[in-house]
This record gives sequence, structure tokens and C-alpha cells, in this order.
Amino acid sequence: MKGVVLAGGLGTRLHPLTKVTNKHLLPVYDRPMIYYPIQALVNAGIREILLVTGGNSAGDFLKLLGNGKEFGLQHLDYTYQEGEGGIADALRLAEHFADHEPVCVVLGDNIIERNILHAAQSFREQKTGAKILLKEVKDPQRFGVPVLDGNKVVRIEEKPQHPRSSYAVTGIYFYDARVFEIIKTLKPSGRGELEITDVNNAYIEGGQLTWDILEGWWTDAGTIESLFLANQLVAKTGANKMEP
Ligand code: G1P
Repeated sequence: MKGVVLAGGLGTRLHPLTKVTNKHLLPVYDRPMIYYPIQALVNAGIREILLVTGGNSAGDFLKLLGNGKEFGLQHLDYTYQEGEGGIADALRLAEHFADHEPVCVVLGDNIIERNILHAAQSFREQKTGAKILLKEVKDPQRFGVPVLDGNKVVRIEEKPQHPRSSYAVTGIYFYDARVFEIIKTLKPSGRGELEITDVNNAYIEGGQLTWDILEGWWTDAGTIESLFLANQLVAKTGANKMEP
């Protein structure tokens, strides 16, 4: 399985912090934000990683990360997303890199306490389809929210005003190679983007989406409040801790 970190976008919810730099280069406690999703993939045993960046300061990722030596990697791949096409549009750029292998996709502003090794292993065994990781949150309306029927996710609603459950779909996704065919069928949403939620709904319609609960704390860092919280959580307990 290969890894893809999505680190583009304009980060407008963090203005003025992101007026001249990329959101994923901002500090989260003692490291740049982008370190956390890369470390999450490395800890899950994934060694081939593509960074999709875009927007401001894209070249700075090269200077910061180079070939990934700090993460024990021999090589890192990079690509550039032009414009603001959304998460699924950024993932589209990983098709050549994935080369028909399954991928673990991590949003560059998602920070986790624990290791996703078990989820990665269970997706390897699943072989086809997709897997998402859910986390109970106080403010589900900020996220993709699953509609549950017993143990089944029957649909995911993107930032619903009236959330149908108290879970968020975290920004860690596992996909088989069909994901790139699904992306080609997507239409831009109301906000003009190709939504990752539409990708996940396509897998649900095909009866091919599984889910797990993410262990440990999870936060995004894409708003002032969540960036502040991410700093506090990392300072207090550290991130990406290995399984006991
Ligand atoms: C994105 C996804 C959303 C998901 C979230 C996780 O939202 O669209 O479904 O729950 O990431 O961080 P964004 O933060 O890009 O608006």
C-alpha cells in the first residue's frame, strides 16, 4: 500500500496566518504541521509516499522534507495541484504514483494521537473497496458525517446543518485503485470542489465501504480554534504514538 498526503489549498479559514505561506507549514507545537500526517503513514509501515501540495510556498516543502530522511525514508514524491479543485481533485493527481496499488490518503491538517497500523492491516486484508475512520466529536457539522443504520454507514453528509450522528469522518481514507475511476465521474459540489465525501458515497453505493473507530484523540488543524487545540493536544500527550 502506498501513502498520499494532501497538503494543498489556500487555507482561507486560517487567514491571515496563511496569506503568505501554506497551512501545512505552520507550526503545531514543535514541528511543522506536515510532519504529523507523514509520520502517521510511516508508523503504519508505509514507505512510498506522495505529497500533493498547491497554493502558497509549495517549493518550501522540498527544502523542509527533501527525500524524507528525517522520517527514515529513502525517497519522497511530490506533485502540485493547480487551483482550488478540492480534496478529490488533489487525489486525482496521485493516479500515476499509485500505479494500481491501494492507497492510504491522509489530509495534511489531520493530527492523530495513536497509530493507524491496525486499520492499515485490516484494509490490506479487505483487499478491495474503501475504508474510512470515524471519531465521535462535539461539532459534527464541521465535517463529513455518517448516517448510520445499526452498524452500517448508509450515507455520508458533508457538513450537514443537522448532523444525523455524532461522528466525524476523519481525513484518513483507504482506497483501492478504483478510486481514480470514481473521481473521474464526480461533479463539483456547491462550493465548486470535487468532494471526498462523494467518493466515499460512491463506495457505499457499491457496498464496498467499511469503517473503524479511530483510537486516541484526533483533530484537524484547519481553523484557528482547531489549530490551537492541535498545539495543546500535541504539547500535552504527543502525537503518532506507537501501539503499546
Ligand atoms: C474535509 C472533508 C470532511 C472531513 C474533514 C476531516 O473537510 O471534506 O468530510 O470530515 O476534511 O478533516 P475540510 O476540512 O476540508 O472542509
